Amino acid sequence: MYTAYRHEPFTDFTKEENIKDFQQALEKVEGYLGDDYPLLIDGEKVTTDDKLVSYNPANKEEIIGTVSKATPELVDKAFDAATRAFETWRHTNPTARAEVLFRAAAIMRRRKHEFSALLVKEAGKPWKEADADIAEAIDFLEYYARQMIELKQGKPINSRDGEFNQYVYQPMGAAVTIPPWNFAGAIMVGTTVAPLVTGNTVLLKPAEPTPVIAAKFVEILEEAGAPKGVINFVPGEPSEIGDYLVDHPKTSIITFTGSRATGLRIYERAAVVQEGQQHLKRVIAEMGGKDTVVVDNEANLDTAVDAIIQSAFGFSGQKCSAGSRVIVHEDVYDEVVERVGERTKALIVGDPASKDTYMGPVVNQKAFDKITGYIEIGKEEGRLITGGDADNSKGYFINPTIFADAAPDARIMQEEIFGPVVAFAKAKNYDEALDIANNTEYGLTGAVISNNSEHLEKAKHHFHVGNLYFNRNCTGAIVGYHPFGGFKMSGTDAKAGGPDHLLQYLHPKTISQML
Ligand code: SER
Repeated sequence: MYTAYRHEPFTDFTKEENIKDFQQALEKVEGYLGDDYPLLIDGEKVTTDDKLVSYNPANKEEIIGTVSKATPELVDKAFDAATRAFETWRHTNPTARAEVLFRAAAIMRRRKHEFSALLVKEAGKPWKEADADIAEAIDFLEYYARQMIELKQGKPINSRDGEFNQYVYQPMGAAVTIPPWNFAGAIMVGTTVAPLVTGNTVLLKPAEPTPVIAAKFVEILEEAGAPKGVINFVPGEPSEIGDYLVDHPKTSIITFTGSRATGLRIYERAAVVQEGQQHLKRVIAEMGGKDTVVVDNEANLDTAVDAIIQSAFGFSGQKCSAGSRVIVHEDVYDEVVERVGERTKALIVGDPASKDTYMGPVVNQKAFDKITGYIEIGKEEGRLITGGDADNSKGYFINPTIFADAAPDARIMQEEIFGPVVAFAKAKNYDEALDIANNTEYGLTGAVISNNSEHLEKAKHHFHVGNLYFNRNCTGAIVGYHPFGGFKMSGTDAKAGGPDHLLQYLHPKTISQML
């Protein structure tokens, strides 16, 4: 038996013993920097000459590891293995499948700081953000395991006299998991184990900037008892194997988290039926956001300032949930802009391996170029309050940047920047603030800071986002507490970490027997 689900606690880094343990974990990770990692196909480790190289974004010279790249031929082999393994795994008792996740959670919990330290190095996450990412990874394992055990009987339906009816769930086949680099622990783990625990088999293609943590997690799944062929690890360049994985006739499910452009490409390609394909592919696509914090005139401004800073600058704004636009009631606008500006100037930006760093680098040169490009656009479109400068001599560092007085339709108010840049706009009243908040093509998260209960009630109906938060930041959804997913062009609203998520990897089946 197992206890009721509770989320994994966050580490208290004010405690000396935790600081020491985390520093030791960083040393441990430093001891294996530069190692080489194989593919995993049908339980066999496969090494290829062509490698993905993972770098520390805070120090471009430091190689985290090299990972063999899959070719289309190797992807074919992985599909063969996954299709074969599916025939057994689909009939494996769901509790036994869930137990693989429980064991993986226990292993990950034992090595929690090591995994967080690896994220510090490979993704550039400050300690607190890395710790939350790995806590969330453990949560996905614990939560989806329990969800599967609940689902294994199916759901109750009616039977008429002389009839016995059942409604059960069956897995679909081989799933392709394409996770992002920004939650290289949590979302990678969640989108790998959701298809797996539901009885599907998986080909995991990690994000190119963060393949090492994925390789380490695949080792954990093996140690936890995932049979051969059930989990296959196929890193590679999207340009070489991305479309191939999506288009493959043996693909049943694609679970993707990443940019809008790639998500739409997958959605479209998956709709094309390939020769020999006898099923429709399921696509779970969690894409971008342009998320808003609304500040009412009746609001606790301390709460507002905290919420804006955490939403905008946590992990350098590299979250689809990041609050990259703030709409403030005109009565309190000047005060909020000034206070957020002052607090932002005091944030510590630097190497995430150092305990006190609030904000580390952005992930790579491509991100650096895109974000600094938007900063130039912002200088035309708004009034620079703080930041606006960047330095990529050692790592990809961009200072937290605030623009005030942006027009609601400005590019910095509409386009996903995915970096530490936030734009402020002024609203005449609360209704106008909500209208501006809704005026993007995305609908992922949003926050309202207000003490007016009628206004909060109104937001429940009129603020069109998948995750709506009151009097707090708009990031940091917790598995089992804040099921996560967005409306509009933010994606298929798969509500990761929620009670309906696993259904997306399953075929419901009705069985009716006359007696
Ligand atoms: N789930 C994360 C958050 O809420 C984003 O992917 O911030």
